[in-house]
Amino acid sequence: MRLVAVVGARPNFMKVAPLLPALAAAGIQTDLVHTGQHYDAAMSEVFFKELGIQAPRWNLGVASGTHASQTGTAMIALEEVFARERPDAVLVVGDVNSTMAGALAAVKLGIPILHLEAGLRSRDMSMPEEVNRLVTDQLSTLLLTPTLRANENLLAEGIPATRIQLVGNIMAQTLLEALPRVLGVQPSCKFGLEPKGYVLATIHRPENTDEPESFREVLSALQSSSLPVLFPVHPRTRCLLEDVTDGESQVRLIEPVPYSTMIALQRDAAAVITDSGGMQEEACMLHTPCVTVRRNTEREITVELGANELVSASAPEISRAIATAIVKPRDWPLPELWDAQVSARVVEAITRAFA
Ligand code: UD1
Repeated sequence: MRLVAVVGARPNFMKVAPLLPALAAAGIQTDLVHTGQHYDAAMSEVFFKELGIQAPRWNLGVASGTHASQTGTAMIALEEVFARERPDAVLVVGDVNSTMAGALAAVKLGIPILHLEAGLRSRDMSMPEEVNRLVTDQLSTLLLTPTLRANENLLAEGIPATRIQLVGNIMAQTLLEALPRVLGVQPSCKFGLEPKGYVLATIHRPENTDEPESFREVLSALQSSSLPVLFPVHPRTRCLLEDVTDGESQVRLIEPVPYSTMIALQRDAAAVITDSGGMQEEACMLHTPCVTVRRNTEREITVELGANELVSASAPEISRAIATAIVKPRDWPLPELWDAQVSARVVEAITRAFA
């Protein structure tokens, strides 16, 4: 069996990292295509090196643009690869524009699609990722899900149960494999911060960054935090933060960090404040309380378990949630199947589906 796996943006890379070796070990040949949606070394190359991900056979150089131009350019370039290679299936992961582009290009060539991390739903169509998830899932032949709720979401949309397979959360496996590598490593010290003596923040979603009022509220809450705030800055957010660099600020801006540094920083933080999907899951796995600045989340399980609180972009509400998070007990149970066997379940599901 021969697959082409599509990656494009930062959150895709940690999803394929544990999967590609498992596919290879099972004799499933997988070539990687990188759309080039993320192209800065700190957003892409660094993860390949650190996570030992095989080099992409093709890099399509799609880069940034409007949603339609980025998705359309990726589709055109992916179609060429798929048409030439004619793999048995195309594997797409997550919910970024490259994910949907891969699914659309494959379906129109009649190539089966495998979607890893299928079935997540925020029910918020203003999120580009929600559109990407809905489209990708409708087109997929095999939907590999992280939670039982994801299965229920798909069944409610009329997707037949025979196409859905609960495999668990691949992000959990990536994290569990990285943890031993950061044992005893405390990257916060490099920034003069003590473990449990800082809050870790990342904000990059359009609903926060593209609305100046929302972003001001988030920033105001971070600046009045009782603990210093370490903030690795996504390129999208950088220009909004230029005036936060004075020495008085509680907020310490740093460049985007490699994966294992991010894991160690989350592990050691008093709390995480974010609008990222992956960090809600990672903080939950690491027993670090999370505050998510969003109107909704497709990772409801993290909220239900008590690991995560959803807050609107209002400074008083964020400040209250940070203060609560810092002192709350960290004894929530981990979600089922968020373990180190996810890639094995994925391989088994693919093998069964294509037997
Ligand atoms: C994308 C994903 C989002 C994910 C995020 C993680 C979609 C719709 N969104 O958002 O789900 O959480 O990745 O990072 O696919 N830029 C650079 N260098 C890069 C990449 C981007 O400077 O290597 C800048 C460009 O100004 C670009 C902007 O970031 O216009 C946004 O990049 P884009 O890939 O469109 O979306 P993200 O915000 O990164």
